[in-house]
Amino acid sequence: MATHDSIGSQDRLAVDGGSPVRREPLLPGWPGGLLIGEEERAQVLDVLESQSLFRHYGPRPRRKTAELERRFAEIMGARHALAVTSGTAALISGLAALGIGPGDEVIVPTYTWVATVGAVVALGAVPVFADIDETLTVDPRALEAAVSPHTVAVIPVHMRGAGADMEPILSAARRHGLAVLEDAAQAVGGMYRKRRLGTLGEFGVYSLQYHKVITTGEGGMVVTDDPRLFERAVRYHDQGSARITELDEVAPGGNPLLIGVNYRMNELTAAVGVAQIERMDWIIARMRAHKARLVASVAGIKGLTVRPIPDPDGDTGATFIFSAATAEQSGRFAKALTAEGVPVSVAWTSGQHVYYHFDQFIERRFLSRRHCAWDCPHYRGKATITKGQFPRSDEILKRAVHFDIHPLFTDQDVDDIILALHKVARALL
Ligand SMILES: Cc1ncc(COP(=O)(O)O)c(C=O)c1O
Repeated sequence: MATHDSIGSQDRLAVDGGSPVRREPLLPGWPGGLLIGEEERAQVLDVLESQSLFRHYGPRPRRKTAELERRFAEIMGARHALAVTSGTAALISGLAALGIGPGDEVIVPTYTWVATVGAVVALGAVPVFADIDETLTVDPRALEAAVSPHTVAVIPVHMRGAGADMEPILSAARRHGLAVLEDAAQAVGGMYRKRRLGTLGEFGVYSLQYHKVITTGEGGMVVTDDPRLFERAVRYHDQGSARITELDEVAPGGNPLLIGVNYRMNELTAAVGVAQIERMDWIIARMRAHKARLVASVAGIKGLTVRPIPDPDGDTGATFIFSAATAEQSGRFAKALTAEGVPVSVAWTSGQHVYYHFDQFIERRFLSRRHCAWDCPHYRGKATITKGQFPRSDEILKRAVHFDIHPLFTDQDVDDIILALHKVARALL
């Protein structure tokens, strides 16, 4: 087989009718999902056989949800963990526990998933966007510049497997008296300066949806070190009550009902989670090893820059992202690489992560005409969302080409990706 040194300029790109480097599809970005096996099966069967699918009671409760919470807290190094139905439910529970509501502004990055923005709006608060930088996470200076007298919290998002630069973010938040809720949905198990992502702010939230590092299909986790905030999140997610046994420690003797919702995780979901959490560090180690080879190989390609990561040692390795010098070059590179059998997308054109360009937020489309956020009478700020408001983010996202890494890639898979990268680079750069 050809090595990248032996590719001549005569090798026609697949996009121009040449043969692709690879015809067999690469595994898609479902790290934990494709590892579901005997352990998950045994855990789920245990719950089924117990006939006790509800976390709080049943004929022979297995308490898998409580077990997942205990193990998650232990592995993350957090005092408390709460299992919920999704990452979105985790965001809303954390924000609600912080007391966020109408009249409040919450700073979110320009590059995230819709849930981060939607969770703020669902509580009647106003999302205020702040530019990202080349790390594809919020620029700490832009975050600080977005602070207004109405700001109450910031949500740094650890996008595509890697942590935001938490130190300057935390100091900006402390200077302005803001709460920090880390959205680690896409970076479960990642670290920043030797601490797990999600454990540096007041709250950390995670998603266990199928595309994430570990999965329960749908699911989410909330962590905090603060017993009072934990109690509030627990109450909010469980109809305002405090039935979780751990609360006996943090709220002895009292159980005043509040108004909440039901975001409780069920025992079957938790059973999958109990098995998946034990796979997490292995998954991350494998993804990081594959990514290290890809990064090293691209370092030798003039004209491509690998995404800088504030703490590269804490990267989960879930995604490999690089940029060409211009949006046009990145677009052509992505198309050619995909044709070679390595399916990549440009962050911008994948189109699902740039919400300040999305009409539902610009036009404030609520199901109820009376639901408010920007238009709440309590809101005294001036934040609005308009297309083209963040040309710097647009420019960065139009150059960023991303690709999901799977822990079960073989060395041959990674060789093929490297070969395809070099083939396309020689032809196009
Ligand atoms: C950055 C980010 N935040 C929040 C979420 C919401 O998670 P879920 O889909 O589990 O509700 C996701 C999920 O894709 C995400 O990527």
